[in-house]
Amino acid sequence: MFIPGRLYSWIFVSITLPLAGLSANASRRGSANDSTADGLTQSELAQLQKLLADMPPSVSPESSAQDRNVPNPIYVVPDQSAALRITPHQYPFVVSLQRVNGEHFCGGAILSSRHIVTAAHCVLDDDRRTTPASQIKVGVGLHNRKAATHNDYFHVKSVRPHPRYRGQPELISDIAILTLAQPIPLNLRGKTARRIELPASGSVNPRPGTTVLGIGWGKNSDDRDGLPQLLEGARLQVLNQSECGRRMKGPGSTMPWEKICVDSTKASACRGDSGGPLFKKVSSGRFHLVGLSSYGTQMCAAPGMASVFTRVSHYLGWIRKTMISSK
Ligand SMILES: *[C@@H]1O[C@H](CO)[C@@H](O)[C@H](O)[C@H]1NC(C)=O
Ligand SMILES: *[C@@H]1O[C@H](CO)[C@@H](O)[C@H](O)[C@H]1NC(C)=O
Ligand SMILES: *[C@@H]1O[C@H](CO)[C@@H](O)[C@H](O)[C@H]1NC(C)=O
Repeated sequence: MFIPGRLYSWIFVSITLPLAGLSANASRRGSANDSTADGLTQSELAQLQKLLADMPPSVSPESSAQDRNVPNPIYVVPDQSAALRITPHQYPFVVSLQRVNGEHFCGGAILSSRHIVTAAHCVLDDDRRTTPASQIKVGVGLHNRKAATHNDYFHVKSVRPHPRYRGQPELISDIAILTLAQPIPLNLRGKTARRIELPASGSVNPRPGTTVLGIGWGKNSDDRDGLPQLLEGARLQVLNQSECGRRMKGPGSTMPWEKICVDSTKASACRGDSGGPLFKKVSSGRFHLVGLSSYGTQMCAAPGMASVFTRVSHYLGWIRKTMISSK
């Protein structure tokens, strides 16, 4: 079953490329721990608070009725007990990253009225060149990724991949911040568009076994071409680092802390879900961003394997500083 090195990032390209052939250089220095916000000055903290104050965070509109299972495949969900039934604008922080021709290629999440977080591999080509901001548009408040007016699409002003991003096979520091050319307008804020909250600190992490939610417009079947039109998602269970390492890299391996994994037996992210949010409903009825879809196996949902996400709590310091410095 396990084929070392056969890992796939989940960016969507019309012709699905196996990316495993790219040069791998995983043995260089380990990733530093970016999670503290200690580096922020009082004035930077004030700037951050101001940025966040102009857009309400997402508050859970879920009722148990909306949470029922659905009988059609969503995300890649071989086990329908894991499927999420999503009503329009239920998760108003998710965005669709699209080419200027309207082709969806990745997901992302709203952090403020002008900042989107996604995966670095969504905005870097194979030679690590950053995609020009002019070639990306951001679909906000969508449910059907196609049926929307041009008012739902936003131009990007800057693209900031993490400076320590490394590509295949492990996609270390797979995170990027996009700054919108114009803030999301007031008439959408708090309605179809809301931001998702970041975890309070680097030590706030869902324990292994916790149920988290993943959503996106990625493929819902590994053998079918094309992407679903409607937002899809699943309930997923967090794995510990040693279990994930064993599943994805072989016996005795441990997944680096900067990744967070979920079991992909019942459901999985797939191509087109890259950069999209993995999140947890917290007790206050809110959601916290937990992860960004990074990579998995070619089959997407596969028994005894994992979906691998960038652990957002590990990058809080970098995220906050990047938001403040690119307004
Ligand atoms: C890996 O990184 C080292 C040090 O930067 C470099 O010398 C080497 O050529 C790289 N190998 C590959 C396969 O990119
Ligand atoms: C990073 O920091 C968090 C919170 O302080 C800690 O739980 C985690 O173990 C650290 N990871 C590494 C690799 O040092
Ligand atoms: C990790 O998870 C596996 C599978 O659930 C379990 O057998 C193992 O004891 C866990 N390891 C740690 C260190 O918690």
